[in-house]
Amino acid sequence: MGPRIDALRFRDDFEALSQAGATPEGGVSRPTFSDAHFAARRLFRDRAEAAGLETSVDGAGNHSAILRSPRAEGDRRLLLGSHLDSVPGGGRFDGALGVVAALNVLHAVRDAGLELPVHLEAVDFTDEEGTLVGLLGSEALAGVLEPEALRSPRGGVEALCRGMGRAGLTEESVLGARRDPSSLAGYLELHIEQGLRLERAGVQIGVVTGIVGARSFLLAFEGHANHAGTTPMEERRDAGAGAASFLLGAREIAMRDFPGAVATVGQMRLEPGAFNVVPGRAEVALEFRSLDAGQLDAMEAALLARAREDAERFGLGLAVEPVARWAPTPLDPGVQGAVVRAAESLGLSYVTLASGAGHDAQALARVCPSGMVFVPSVGGVSHDPRELTRWEDCLNGANVFLLAALDLVGA
Ligand code: GLV
Ligand code: MN
Ligand code: MN
Repeated sequence: MGPRIDALRFRDDFEALSQAGATPEGGVSRPTFSDAHFAARRLFRDRAEAAGLETSVDGAGNHSAILRSPRAEGDRRLLLGSHLDSVPGGGRFDGALGVVAALNVLHAVRDAGLELPVHLEAVDFTDEEGTLVGLLGSEALAGVLEPEALRSPRGGVEALCRGMGRAGLTEESVLGARRDPSSLAGYLELHIEQGLRLERAGVQIGVVTGIVGARSFLLAFEGHANHAGTTPMEERRDAGAGAASFLLGAREIAMRDFPGAVATVGQMRLEPGAFNVVPGRAEVALEFRSLDAGQLDAMEAALLARAREDAERFGLGLAVEPVARWAPTPLDPGVQGAVVRAAESLGLSYVTLASGAGHDAQALARVCPSGMVFVPSVGGVSHDPRELTRWEDCLNGANVFLLAALDLVGA
């Protein structure tokens, strides 16, 4: 038998990380640059250092553990990673499983005494979830982060400045985190599926073929705030009514006209926000995703047309601010092949599937051969404390991850 993940160490690392930002509901809450997020990153670094691995933090705050190989030429590295930040009130597995697995791949390679033709680097990327920007660390490292993304971040400019200040980052340092693409031998990420397909099919491993594209917009419906008791219904310019109508319209449009795609209003803010005031302004966070770039264009046109109709119907103004734009990303067929061979050699069942969630792999895929391994999510639940992947599946996934990484570098 070749090298394998040390199951006890892997689990111990995972359980320890689950304590950082643990919530009473059984999940974790580690928004980017919160105390809990810093604690998780420190733990990753401490464990890597305690194991005698080299560690580093780059200008985007990405934390790395590095296993150098005396056989490697120059500084070429195979990157393995994911993220330790979470959505507020999230689960323990999203991102953390991949980071812990990456660290344990380094341990397994070293324990087996393997000398690879490249160095191995386990990376905890900054702000994958988009508390501030989304894919901030991975896009910075890949050199594909648009400076504009730092000017109109999803989490707001104030939160981004505060967070970057806490982490000791500047715009210059973040953009300076770019790696020379020729130093990147490839990128591999283990992640929970966050959906129902593997569980429903009774399959152990997902070989990821691509990642959906996503676009997000902030829509502001502008009406007139007024007294909720004395303003007759027909005379209101109720921004909340426009926003609510849009929410239902977006759902209808996605379901009726764009099968396979999704549209979400994930946040709505009514101002001034009181029982007894007709809302004068409503802010709506709209996001939609599809694997097909043409479909994204068509959805954008249909959804924004619907927002304009709703504004007109309720006598409102409308301001549209584009917030983020991620293109659909196919993953490297060669990396998919390595994952398939790894699953086959371990006697595990697998299927190919596309990811509906965003991942750091989509940033790395723009500059080096990249791929992902999925493991089943119980009940398809994610971004929630009930998020769960059976331990046996986590371990299977980590071993596929290990063997695929070795295959990729020809070891
Ligand atoms: C990240 O988890 C996303 O897909 O939004
Ligand atoms: Mn994730
Ligand atoms: Mn997530």
